[in-house]
Amino acid sequence: MYESLNIELEQLKENNLYRELKKIDRRDGARIKVNNQWLIDFSSNDYLGLTQNKLISHSIAQGLDQYGNGAGASHLISGHYSVHDELENLSAKNTKMEKSLFFASGYIANLSFMTSVIKKEHYVFMDRLNHASLNQGVFFSQAKFSRFNHLDYDHLELLLSKKKQLTKWIITDGVFSMDGDIANIPKLVQLCQKYNAYLYIDDAHGYGVLGKTGQGILEFFSDKKMINTKDLKRIIYLNTLGKSAGVSGALMNAKKEIIDYMTQKAKPYIYSTATSPALAQGIITSMQLVKESHQLRQNLALLIHLFRTTLKIKDQLLESITPIQPIVLNSEKKALFASLELKKAGFFVPAIRPPTVEKNSSRLRVSISANHTQDNIKALVTILNQVLA
Ligand SMILES: Cc1ncc(COP(=O)(O)O)c(C=O)c1O
Repeated sequence: MYESLNIELEQLKENNLYRELKKIDRRDGARIKVNNQWLIDFSSNDYLGLTQNKLISHSIAQGLDQYGNGAGASHLISGHYSVHDELENLSAKNTKMEKSLFFASGYIANLSFMTSVIKKEHYVFMDRLNHASLNQGVFFSQAKFSRFNHLDYDHLELLLSKKKQLTKWIITDGVFSMDGDIANIPKLVQLCQKYNAYLYIDDAHGYGVLGKTGQGILEFFSDKKMINTKDLKRIIYLNTLGKSAGVSGALMNAKKEIIDYMTQKAKPYIYSTATSPALAQGIITSMQLVKESHQLRQNLALLIHLFRTTLKIKDQLLESITPIQPIVLNSEKKALFASLELKKAGFFVPAIRPPTVEKNSSRLRVSISANHTQDNIKALVTILNQVLA
């Protein structure tokens, strides 16, 4: 057995697909210390720069003082603190949904939903570029599924029109994690109404960034009056906190029946120790900060604009209004080479390769944060213009 694992590992190395764990010593603003070297960090999902925010750290510290280190039990036994409840109520209020449920991570939240609410006899339609946790969840649900071409809602409609199952799900990322583009939620809502389907949105990368108060892709489209409160009845909305909120965890927001059902039936939720109440307290502070961070969102938008307008290689840069700015170089080798050259120049921009992205679409994923200065962006663009010329 060990031998066959070794053979596979060697194959990954030969194909430039082996991933090294990098040792991170510290983060400090836009800088990161990787394997003992300080670099300007363009690798994180810390879009608002809250991972280092002291108000959040103090709130967690205060929570540790008040509640101790851990929850001590699973939610249904005796690990569900009133602060967990407070957090869930805040999320329901922010998202204008009936109820919310807090999970230790987005991955677990997705698996929990797909393996409880989605049944074998349901039918699922998934965007081809959905996150791995959604794909895995649907696979575990045992429901039949089709993948539609990325953001191609004509293709989706063609598939929808052919399926007669009573319960249908459309599942999509809000902001696509490796491409940075966004799902057209109003169009998906319209298709859900026409074909009597439900919509599951994983907005891991939209929360904090999109919408007037950073509430994500639903707020973004509701600001534009393209969706309304009535539409929420068909929507399950997941915001993941490990990105913009700067802490780990995720909140599932939906109709009361969905949340009540998951509390009873979602095994990864039920048979797992509850997340520490101190962290829940920190998340409440973080969610309040996200709401108030208008200035950070404005800075971020300016930095994204600066990056896109000054980078010379336009045709490899994907269309994106979000902090995720991918430059597709196709071959793994090219992406790795470019990432290495950037590192030599003092920038950490990861090369993203299969299986995270499809074959022959390896890329540099430039991730912009409110922590960056205009000078950071200008310096990165200068070196990118040289390396990719
Ligand atoms: C779209 C999407 N959903 C879910 C997750 C998993 O979330 P978490 O990191 O909280 O487990 C990720 C992780 O990066 C993601 O990009």
